[in-house]
Amino acid sequence: MIEQQSGASLAQHAMIAVVGDIHLQWDLFDVRYFNASDYDLILFVGDIAAYRHQGALPIARSIASLDIPAIVMPGNHDAVHLGQLVAEVLERPTVSDTLGRGHPKRSRQLDDALGNVTMAGYSRHRVEVGAHAINVIAGRPHSMGGPRVAFRRYLAQRFGVDSIETSVQRLVSLIDDSGDEPIVFLGHNGPSGFGDRREDIWGCDFRAEEGDFGDPDLAQAIDYARAAGRQIVAVVAGHMHHELKGGGHRRWLENRDDTLYLNAARVPRIFRRGESVLHHHVELRFDGSAMAAEERLVGD
Ligand SMILES: [Fe+2]
Repeated sequence: MIEQQSGASLAQHAMIAVVGDIHLQWDLFDVRYFNASDYDLILFVGDIAAYRHQGALPIARSIASLDIPAIVMPGNHDAVHLGQLVAEVLERPTVSDTLGRGHPKRSRQLDDALGNVTMAGYSRHRVEVGAHAINVIAGRPHSMGGPRVAFRRYLAQRFGVDSIETSVQRLVSLIDDSGDEPIVFLGHNGPSGFGDRREDIWGCDFRAEEGDFGDPDLAQAIDYARAAGRQIVAVVAGHMHHELKGGGHRRWLENRDDTLYLNAARVPRIFRRGESVLHHHVELRFDGSAMAAEERLVGD
């Protein structure tokens, strides 16, 4: 009797895979692996592309052949022109606005290539995972990190977002409109408030002064949901690569206030170790009230 009960509770665990920044590191092995797996859902934190939008389209078509429900959050490398990306890095928003004219068209091309896989961004998705249901609330797409809203021309046209404040408003209405099921926030970049050192989960490793490079709008949305009594089981993002400029590795997992914070950006996600080629993802296991994470390195 006891054995049957424990068997039943094991079966009630939901399984969610999180795939970090791909940067072109995805192949047929990944499709076969996930299609043969027990996962109920796959979350992609974005940056499918490297530096050319066109380069991401064959990968997006490959992701479209997954049999498991999947949600993709576009990163700052996705659906953008290289000049736009450079202008954003240099904080030249007017140049980015000009080069961003093709952004809506590139987004449509990416969405088309993803087929039935959901391309997210300021969106909410009620998903049945195993015996449970969750609300995936997708934050600001194409985040570059830090206190600025990047790619403002596109975000203003498409979502009416031109500032951190309008982004928070948009996220708050998604939270208000979502059901009572536990929330999983999905971002390209994680929230601010998790440290200002280079090795912190979303800390800046490419400036001498370091600093907190998290998204303040996502942080405010999380605070709002928590104050409204919502259960937030996980916040899933990437963008800030695990391997640090100048050496070392960042922390990629934190637990705070019963919420799991995950940065899945192990880049490159496919790498050689001895004789094996390993493919990275993170497994989330959900028992209906809490989420647990484990790094998975799967051999080719
Ligand atoms: Fe990124």
